Amino acid sequence: MALKGAAIVIDCYNDGFFLMSCTVNMSSINFPNIDHENLPKWQGDLAPLECIEIIEETHNVKSFRFKSQKDAWFQFLPGQHTTLFLNIDGADVMRTYTIASSPTRPHTITITSKRMTDGIVTNWMHDNLKVGDVIDALNIGGSFSVALDKPKKKVLLMSGGSGITPMLSMTRYFVDLAIDVDIVFIHNAQTPEDLIGKYELDYYAHHQLNFGLHYVCDKADATWQGASGFLDTKMLTRLVPDYLEREVYCCGPEAYMVNAKGLLRAGGFDMDYYHQESFDIESSTAQQNMAEPLEKPVVDVEYSGEIVEYNVILTETGKTISCASNSSILSAIQAQGIGVPFACSMGMCGTCRAKMTEGTVDMDAQGGLLKSHEEEGYILTCCSKPTSDVVLDL
Ligand code: FES
Repeated sequence: MALKGAAIVIDCYNDGFFLMSCTVNMSSINFPNIDHENLPKWQGDLAPLECIEIIEETHNVKSFRFKSQKDAWFQFLPGQHTTLFLNIDGADVMRTYTIASSPTRPHTITITSKRMTDGIVTNWMHDNLKVGDVIDALNIGGSFSVALDKPKKKVLLMSGGSGITPMLSMTRYFVDLAIDVDIVFIHNAQTPEDLIGKYELDYYAHHQLNFGLHYVCDKADATWQGASGFLDTKMLTRLVPDYLEREVYCCGPEAYMVNAKGLLRAGGFDMDYYHQESFDIESSTAQQNMAEPLEKPVVDVEYSGEIVEYNVILTETGKTISCASNSSILSAIQAQGIGVPFACSMGMCGTCRAKMTEGTVDMDAQGGLLKSHEEEGYILTCCSKPTSDVVLDL
């Protein structure tokens, strides 16, 4: 029961001090445990997340902050993503979201999402998710992160629309760790009202050394003082005269990234220093249903070795299926009509992870598998082709 009582508060006004009395809630704050030595790491695998805060970022963008329902801290890299698993109107749906918060604040994760016309999960979250609600998440993964590279000391972050989320995570990471880096951040939005994270980025622009910030709005009225129109080489050169010397990180709708790559190439940029989040955040395959069947397995048309059929034994399902050496195990499973979790189908999100207890595979994971999980025998079925008979805990 909350204790309430009278308290005396000293207020300062125009250099004079006044005593004020008021009633305050005397119950204590319940601080979470942040002792990492005695606090487990959040492990995913449908681990429940509790929504603890919802922030309206713009007219159609919200940030949802979560903590682990069971005390735990989150280990991830700035720019990585997590996959949420929800049951909406009776259907299991998944959606992969970049984590917008920084791993330097490891006790919560924040997902910033934009309402979309056909965004089943995002729109459900915008309309229904409340503080205190609990949802499940599968894993954290991804290879789009400054922390995985050894980038130059000059970095150019480029984002379009809600593609800003990994850039927010990386910026917060740089700031929190006081990394010695020269950042220029270009963010494109349709209108000034669509700018996400503006107050925070403006703060960094004023208070951080070596932090250049440019907003570019497609459409803006006469009151807008920033750049407007389509980003082209001329505008890029004006905003970032030394862009050829920088390591570039880019995220946004496909058309935005195609344009960014094109104008960088045209300007003579060395594309070895260009990184992009190739996962299409606007039209993610992550919303596919677990049980969606395939007519036949998808084969790797560039596979050059001998094609051999192997057995894949699924111990939990109790089935044995055949999988060719030029086909992913996931697509062979789907072709049998067996429902298993998956999202990106690109080895990035970790959703299709399964423990392999026997056998060998050729796996092309794109960051969706933690090293510790790989050491424990897990594989990503979407990007693993069998090289022997295989037994999976699935
Ligand atoms: S489905 Fe995303 S890693 Fe396999």
